Amino acid sequence: MNAIARCAAGVVTVALGLVCSLASAAGDTIKVGVLAPMSGTFASYGQQITTGAKAFMKRNGDTVAGKKVELIIRDTTGPAPDVAKRLAQELIVQDDVDFIVGFGLTPNALAAAPVVTEAKKPMIIMNAATSIITTKSPYIARVSFTLAQVTEPMAQWAYKTGLRKVYTAVADYGPGFDAEAAFKNGFTKLGGEIVGSVRIPLKNPEFGPFLQRIKDAKPQALFVFVPAGEPAIGFMKAYTERGLASAGIKLITTGDVLDDGVIEAMGDDVLGVISTHHYSVAHDSPENAAFRASYAQINATQRPNFMAVGAYDGMAVLYEVVRKLNGNIDGDKAMQILRGLNLTSPRGPIQIDAETRDIVQNVYVREAKKVGGKIYNVEFETFPAVKDPGK
Ligand code: DHB
Repeated sequence: MNAIARCAAGVVTVALGLVCSLASAAGDTIKVGVLAPMSGTFASYGQQITTGAKAFMKRNGDTVAGKKVELIIRDTTGPAPDVAKRLAQELIVQDDVDFIVGFGLTPNALAAAPVVTEAKKPMIIMNAATSIITTKSPYIARVSFTLAQVTEPMAQWAYKTGLRKVYTAVADYGPGFDAEAAFKNGFTKLGGEIVGSVRIPLKNPEFGPFLQRIKDAKPQALFVFVPAGEPAIGFMKAYTERGLASAGIKLITTGDVLDDGVIEAMGDDVLGVISTHHYSVAHDSPENAAFRASYAQINATQRPNFMAVGAYDGMAVLYEVVRKLNGNIDGDKAMQILRGLNLTSPRGPIQIDAETRDIVQNVYVREAKKVGGKIYNVEFETFPAVKDPGK
């Protein structure tokens, strides 16, 4: 047994000038590299993801299989694939992490995929939601959602409630393309008509002119996906200012637009908006109550959103892998464990599909409503165990 192995076995020893102790030896730590935007327009993503991960550790302890779990958080600064790729490399080469997790934004997840493939490191996606991501490396598993997964139920719900002519507006990148295609396919298959489609730039979007064009086209409804947080706030403001609601154009969206973290700040203009998504902070279950309570212990003023629950569940599956491997992380064995894994999440039952490593989960139809004087996405219909429709 060498010095490192003795440390790992919990023997406090001094050998070859190497001092190790139970708490600090590298072999006694599970290092988790967290890549997320912590600054700039998308800083709320990093905030939600890191708080969600810490909430899991608060509730379940920071030790698993006798090893201390350490989060090493790195700021991708926004949609910046070159930065994400470099940080992923540094986490692996310099910090010797066991897992890479996080990923608020699709371009960053795609940039890290070849890095984790080469290093055989398990990568757990806590938000980024373009369908193709999990196909880019056998070392990627996703516990968040895909835009196609939450959008197809919206197309079905819209048709069922009598809508026939819908305009679509999406952010002009991967998840937006997926949302646009899923809505169009789902809605036209049933007999609905897409009367127009626009794609809005991801960086510095100007929503007003797009919305004016949509208003002039007089659709029955507008289906929208823009990324959560600041882009969504900008969209809602322009939607109200341009008078689409008063012109009778119904707004239907993915839950990103009415992100729990900012919905209260959006104000009463969102009341009545219907969205589909996999998580609402108002979801009524003991697991969600426990999640809200531990999140509040880390941050009592901010509401958790879907990214926070993705991070909480991401840590849950990571702990399961560490437990099953008894603390000795091997990339291929880790992926074997992640494939087919079931969990009762704060959002409801979830499974990582054994074949695609993508998530299977309930998708909820929700209405923005006041409950006890505060605005929530209140779930009223469930599409059970939904898979990404393209997989
Ligand atoms: C992404 C997906 C989202 O649902 C969102 O709100 C923001 C970003 C993404 O995959 O980039």
